[in-house]
Amino acid sequence: HENLIKKAKQILTENYQPSGFTLPCKNLYPFQWLWDSGFIAIGFAHFDMPKAKQEISTLLDAQWENGFIPHIIFHTDTDTYFPGADFHRSDLHPLSSKKYKSTGMTQPPVTGFVLEEMYNISTDKEDLLTYIESEIDKVFDNHRYFYEQRDINNEGLVYIYHNWESGTDNSPIWDDIWATVDSPRYDFKRRDTSHVDASQRPSKREYDHYLHIIEIAKEHNYSDEKIAELSPFLVQDPLFNAMLIKSNESLIKLYKRIGNNEDKVRQLEQWQQLSMTSFNSKLYDEELGCYIHYDLRNNKPLRYISSSSFAPLFANIPDKERAAEMVNTMMTKFGNPDQYLCASFDPTSKRYNPKQYWRGPVWINLNWMLYRGLAQYGYKNIAERVKQDTIALIEINGFYEYFDARKEAHGEVRAGYGGNDFSWSAALLIDMLS
Ligand code: DGY
Repeated sequence: HENLIKKAKQILTENYQPSGFTLPCKNLYPFQWLWDSGFIAIGFAHFDMPKAKQEISTLLDAQWENGFIPHIIFHTDTDTYFPGADFHRSDLHPLSSKKYKSTGMTQPPVTGFVLEEMYNISTDKEDLLTYIESEIDKVFDNHRYFYEQRDINNEGLVYIYHNWESGTDNSPIWDDIWATVDSPRYDFKRRDTSHVDASQRPSKREYDHYLHIIEIAKEHNYSDEKIAELSPFLVQDPLFNAMLIKSNESLIKLYKRIGNNEDKVRQLEQWQQLSMTSFNSKLYDEELGCYIHYDLRNNKPLRYISSSSFAPLFANIPDKERAAEMVNTMMTKFGNPDQYLCASFDPTSKRYNPKQYWRGPVWINLNWMLYRGLAQYGYKNIAERVKQDTIALIEINGFYEYFDARKEAHGEVRAGYGGNDFSWSAALLIDMLS
């Protein structure tokens, strides 16, 4: 796979910006995105550690005084992205960064486990530990923000208030929520659909909802309290919370390695214990045999199966018995031999759309987590299939943003969708092949 790795490194290097971060994808995503940065740093760690460090340092430099880390950092003024800095208005929040314009929402908290990955990959452990020591408290403060501001029931499960915080932007799971919201019909000019086929992106009506929630948050200067009270979207997401749990674990390990941080370790262990317990009691659906989302606003579970349902394997959350049930669900619903693993949404559902963003296509970051998770629980063959499917999808189509899971779709026409030369597809392939 030498050529694939070479191409992947070239993509990352070309998407790297002189100001110290990497574009997720040229044109389509012209700024820094939180979870993209995390995955990108893992890729760089294999061949250019200074860039990996810089990526994370730039991200953490944009942290707010309350520990919050935004989902997009607008390093430049380009108007080729909508909605941009002038729409999001992070300056409305009294504790937002004075240095960077950003959004007022976040994304899955990957930073903790990314630091651990970088440490594991590094050949100069001492140097890496010194680096981690200089940054780790910012990640700790970020976790404190989550547990203090976003866990309204004090149950160890944090909410997201916007679908863009989930990372799985237009998942069919959100359809149930949009059905409860009467968003205004806004007049705006999208830019994503001038870079990418509109049928592969969220709809106009969905964008109305996305903007509507931001308008509510802005009206209250991004106050967490007000958002928790008023946002029509308030969800406990298993992918998001699994990332937090995974990152807690990494912070505990790293603090122990650094030493002299007993208080922080104790605090993290406390959060972790509560999170694990609630995650397993509240977000597991016995009948479906996997984890699901919980709609806090309407007080009900959202009983759908998506690739997020299996992400807890990566964070070591289920016991062995549950893991077996989850693998069974995954293979029954998503694992048909005529499909590549792993579709982002239940291929047997009426809401499945194999070409549209998070409504069905395979995403490399979820595959990377599932590969790790399955291997960790001893499902070597299925883990290997996820890896080989990932390689095949990229080999056939290129380093796209997402891919059709149906094998029959790959042939005459390309079945990689969204942006091309997509950074995290490159970064995580490098990691899988290393
Ligand atoms: C987009 O613009 O589609 C991004 O995913 C938002 O985070």
